Amino acid sequence: MPRWDEGPLVGRADELARLMAHVDRAVEGRPSAVLVAGDAGVGKTRLLDELSRRAAERGLRVLTGHCVDLGDVGLPYLPFVDLLRPVVADPELAPGLADHPVLAGLLTGRPGAAAVPTDEVDGGSPLARGAFRPPADDGRLQLFEAVASLLSDLAEDRPLLVVLEDVHWADRSSRDLLRYLLARLAEDPAVVVVVSYRADDLHRRHPLRPLLAELVRLPGVDRLALEPLPASDVEALVRGLASASGGVPAATVEDVVARAEGNAFYAEELLAAGLAGEALPMGLTDVLLARVEQLTPAAQQVLRVAAVAGRQVRHELVSAVSSQSPQETEQALAEAVHHHLLVVSEDGRYRFRHALLREAVLADLLPGERVRLHAEVAAHLAAHPGAGTAAERAHHARESNDLPGAFSASLEAADAARRVGAPAEQLQHLETALALWSAVPDAAERAGREQWVLLLDTAAAARAIGELHRGVGLLRSAQQLLGPDGDPEARARVHYTLAQALTRIEEAGEALRESTAAMALVPADPPSYRTRRAAPRDGVTGAAARWRRSSRRRPAPPPRERK
Ligand SMILES: Nc1ncnc2c1ncn2[C@@H]1O[C@H](COP(=O)(O)OP(=O)(O)O)[C@@H](O)[C@H]1O
Ligand SMILES: [Mg+2]
Repeated sequence: MPRWDEGPLVGRADELARLMAHVDRAVEGRPSAVLVAGDAGVGKTRLLDELSRRAAERGLRVLTGHCVDLGDVGLPYLPFVDLLRPVVADPELAPGLADHPVLAGLLTGRPGAAAVPTDEVDGGSPLARGAFRPPADDGRLQLFEAVASLLSDLAEDRPLLVVLEDVHWADRSSRDLLRYLLARLAEDPAVVVVVSYRADDLHRRHPLRPLLAELVRLPGVDRLALEPLPASDVEALVRGLASASGGVPAATVEDVVARAEGNAFYAEELLAAGLAGEALPMGLTDVLLARVEQLTPAAQQVLRVAAVAGRQVRHELVSAVSSQSPQETEQALAEAVHHHLLVVSEDGRYRFRHALLREAVLADLLPGERVRLHAEVAAHLAAHPGAGTAAERAHHARESNDLPGAFSASLEAADAARRVGAPAEQLQHLETALALWSAVPDAAERAGREQWVLLLDTAAAARAIGELHRGVGLLRSAQQLLGPDGDPEARARVHYTLAQALTRIEEAGEALRESTAAMALVPADPPSYRTRRAAPRDGVTGAAARWRRSSRRRPAPPPRERK
């Protein structure tokens, strides 16, 4: 079978012309951006691939980043890591990264580069809702600025087309970075940014909605709605594919065109189902499942494993989880690729040809089967640390009801998110860990800290992304947990942190009460603290400042050598 996505592009002349006009603008030194909306399967990727090809012919450098459906996995900045992968891999460009050390942690996995401070006091003010800037105090600004200036540097050398695909799946940190990049677009003369998203997936409370509303108000940002293809174009598409496969009866072509309703993906899948001699089924999901059922049981099993495993799968994982020999797996994968259900990435990993296919396979799994597959994927990832991230391990552990495993992996994932400067995902993982705490018998031991300390850490992450009320709520929980008879030092620390948090949400009276309570708990011995200078910035007392100092982590002193 020929590769479907290598056939000629049908129609879309107007849309391409509009997009190419933006490319021309970039060449002339006038930056712009386009938000491309369209239903799943309508042809966004195909159109943007064509645009990329033509832009490259015009001399532009093209960088593409894909967002993938990770559900609640919470892996930050994935599309930008994807986008910048060619820069890291290019021996000419990679040295330029040295100018942006804060990026190294993100792009090379080297930790520590963009860590968000967790227990330092910042004195930040509440962020106005929807304010058009990233919170300046959360440690991300440096990272955002590094990405922006890296793109500027690249564009100075050659005009740049940045394509970000499927941003309806973008994580929160990536959405914030996208907002930042588009807001400062005017500073990068030779850049055009094209963003695609699924219009049919944006339910009313989808987090992309408010961002889109903000972005379209920016100067230079345009919107392009990709409508279904006209019937004549679908017919051209179907005839082209059919003739490449030896031709099909005219009635089949007609039937496919009538049913596809302008959706290119649907047309292709209908045709493939029809080609295999099936009576054409009704809805898209049925069509896709009919296609899957045409495969051997081994290949179907491989698809189920791939669907559960997530974004991309390696041969080894499929082999381990599907309990097939490497040769059987090889054959099954080859079959799925041959039938245009999976595609092989450049790095040899497998993914579904289209997200709609994965969704159909996933939805068709029986609950017990799904849990079992998640458990096996989790076990494989635990045994092969390089095979996945902590966030993915946490996800599979959670989905297979391994709560202690999910707890530990979530804490690891939180730490990983903190290290790359992604407080939103850090918060998400910490909150997951908190929710699991009572279900994990040795939680404190696994976490290496008491529950109230974890609450404090979570509150710090909430503050870092401007969720100040959430932070106060978490601190109140810590307070409740310690109760009136808890360790005075711990209680004083919570009172003090609360005083700070309340100051930020302008609850001065409450803040004063908390700082007074903190002070009352400070032991009288040693007495010197009461005479120390107060910390006027937050209106918090000297006693509280002492707690602040003691709460900072200091490196442990070196062990004394025995004589
Ligand atoms: N204009 C077109 N001409 C030819 N094939 C197309 C066209 N639009 C989409 N396709 C094909 O339809 C399938 C789905 O398109 P895709 O671009 O992946 O959709 P989307 O990204 O909107 O979900 C792909 O196999 C693609 O090659
Ligand atoms: Mg697509």
